[in-house]
Amino acid sequence: MSDAYLSFANSPFGGALTRSLGLPQPRALERFSSHRPVLRGEVLVGASPGAQLLPSLSQSLAELEAPSLAHHSLPEWITLAQQQGVMSGRWGVGEAPGAKVKALVFDATGLSDPLQSETLHAFFQHTLPHLLPCGRVIVLARPPEQAATLAQAVAQRALEGFVRAVAKELRQGATAQLLWVEEGAEANLGGALGFFLSPRSAYVSGQSLRLQPASLPPHAPTQPLAGRQILVTGAARGIGVAVAETLARDGARVIALDVPSAQEPLQALAKRIGGQALALDITDPEAPTTLVRAALAEGGWDGLVHNAGITRDRSLARMPAHQWALVQAINLQAPITITQAMQEAQALRKGARVVGVSSISGIAGNRGQTNYGYSKAGVIGWVQALAPQWQTQALAINAVAPGFIETQMTAAIPLAIREAGRRMNSLGQGGLPVDVAEAIAWLVGPQAAGVNGQVLRVCGQNWLGA
Ligand SMILES: NC(=O)c1ccc[n+]([C@@H]2O[C@H](COP(=O)([O-])OP(=O)(O)OC[C@H]3O[C@@H](n4cnc5c(N)ncnc54)[C@H](O)[C@@H]3O)[C@@H](O)[C@H]2O)c1
Repeated sequence: MSDAYLSFANSPFGGALTRSLGLPQPRALERFSSHRPVLRGEVLVGASPGAQLLPSLSQSLAELEAPSLAHHSLPEWITLAQQQGVMSGRWGVGEAPGAKVKALVFDATGLSDPLQSETLHAFFQHTLPHLLPCGRVIVLARPPEQAATLAQAVAQRALEGFVRAVAKELRQGATAQLLWVEEGAEANLGGALGFFLSPRSAYVSGQSLRLQPASLPPHAPTQPLAGRQILVTGAARGIGVAVAETLARDGARVIALDVPSAQEPLQALAKRIGGQALALDITDPEAPTTLVRAALAEGGWDGLVHNAGITRDRSLARMPAHQWALVQAINLQAPITITQAMQEAQALRKGARVVGVSSISGIAGNRGQTNYGYSKAGVIGWVQALAPQWQTQALAINAVAPGFIETQMTAAIPLAIREAGRRMNSLGQGGLPVDVAEAIAWLVGPQAAGVNGQVLRVCGQNWLGA
C-alpha cells in the first residue's frame, strides 16, 4: 500500500538520480492540514473581456482570506478585490512576470465567440510557467446549454478541452479544473473554490463540475459539518476509515457501518472519532428498516455515504452468476434500496446530502470487471436520474469516482498491473484514501451547495476514460 518509487523520487538522492536518468518524477502532493491556510500562496486573476463572475470571485476570495494579484490585462481587479477587503496588488511590472503564485483563476464567462480565445491563450502562456508546486488552475465558465448564441455555446464548451489539456501539461503536482457556473449560482462559487483551491483536492484534476442555484446553509468554515449526523458504510477499513475520520474532523457525528465480522476495527474507529459503530450487512433484507429506525430515533440523518463495495474480478466468460449478483447487491442495489427507504420514511433531514461511490471502472470499463463496471456505472446512472427530483426537495445526491487509490483492494492487484495503474494519470501516482474522503466531505457538506447530480472523479486525471 505504499508507493516506494514516489518516496524514492522525492528523496534528495532519488530526485537527482531520476532526474539524470530522465525517469518520471511524481511530486509528493500537499494535503490538508488544519494548521495551515486554505491557500498556501497568492491567486493570480485574469479574465476575458465581458467576464461576468469577477464580483463573485472577489467575494469568494475574501471569504477564503486568499490574497490575490491582478494580471496586467485585468487592472480593474485591484479595485474590485480591495472593495471586498482582499489583499491585492499587481503581478509583475508592466508586462514582465512577477513572483510565482499558488493559483491561476481565469474568468472565461465573457468569451462569446471562439474567435476571442486568444485572451485565454495569452493569459495562460504568460502565467503557467510561474505556478508554484502543487498549484491550482481554475477556469470559470457558463454552461454551454444556457448560452444565448451558437458562437457563445461553442466558445464555452471549448473550454473543457482546453482545461483537460492544461491539466495534462502541468507538472509538480499542480491540477486544473473547470467550473460551469449557472446564472443564479454565483453565490455558490466560494464553496467550490474553497475545495478546488485547497490541498483537499490534491488528487482531483482535469475535472469539470457544474454549480446550480441553491441557497447556502449557514455553517462554520472550519467545522462545516458541525451538528450533522452522517452514515458511512464500509467504514471498517480502506477509504471508509478515511471518510469517517475526515467527516468527524469537520465536525460530523459519524455512524460507522460495516459487516459484523469487521466489528473490532469498526468499534476502535468509532471510539477514536467519537462516533457510533453499527454492525450490519447492507444486503440484509432488514437493513433498510434497521437504518430507518436508527435514523428516526436520532431525529433523522443529514447524509449517507454509500462507500461499502467489493470486487469479484473474472473475465465474463468465467464469471459465475453468484459473483455477478453479489457485486450488484452490495455496490448498487443496497445503496438504492437504503436511500429510498430513508427518504420515504422521512429519515433524511432537510438539506441532507447523499454520496455514492462509483469508480473509473464504471466510466472507462476494465478487463475482468464487467460485474464491477456495471455496478459502478449504475451508481452514476442512479445519481444522475435522482438528482433533478431531489433538487425540488432541497436534497442533493452526487457520486465520486475514485481512480487508483492505495488500499487493501488495490494492494491485491498483481505487481505489474498495480504499477501501471498507479502511474497512468497526470499526477504519476496513486491517490490516498484521504483524497477520496476530502471529496466526499466536501460533497456531503454545505459548501457544496448547488452541486447535485455530479460525478467527481478523484483519479489524478487517470488516462482511462478521460
Ligand atoms: N481502492 C480503490 O482504488 C478504489 C477505486 C475505485 C473505487 N473504489 C470504491 O471505493 C469503495 C471503498 O473501497 P476500498 O478500497 O476502501 O475497499 P475495501 O475493500 O478496503 O473496504 C470496503 C469495506 O466495505 C465493507 N463491506 C463490503 N461488503 C459489505 C456489506 N455487504 N455490508 C457492509 N459493509 C460491507 C468491507 O467489510 C470493507 O470494510 C468501494 O465502493 C470501492 O468499489 C475503490
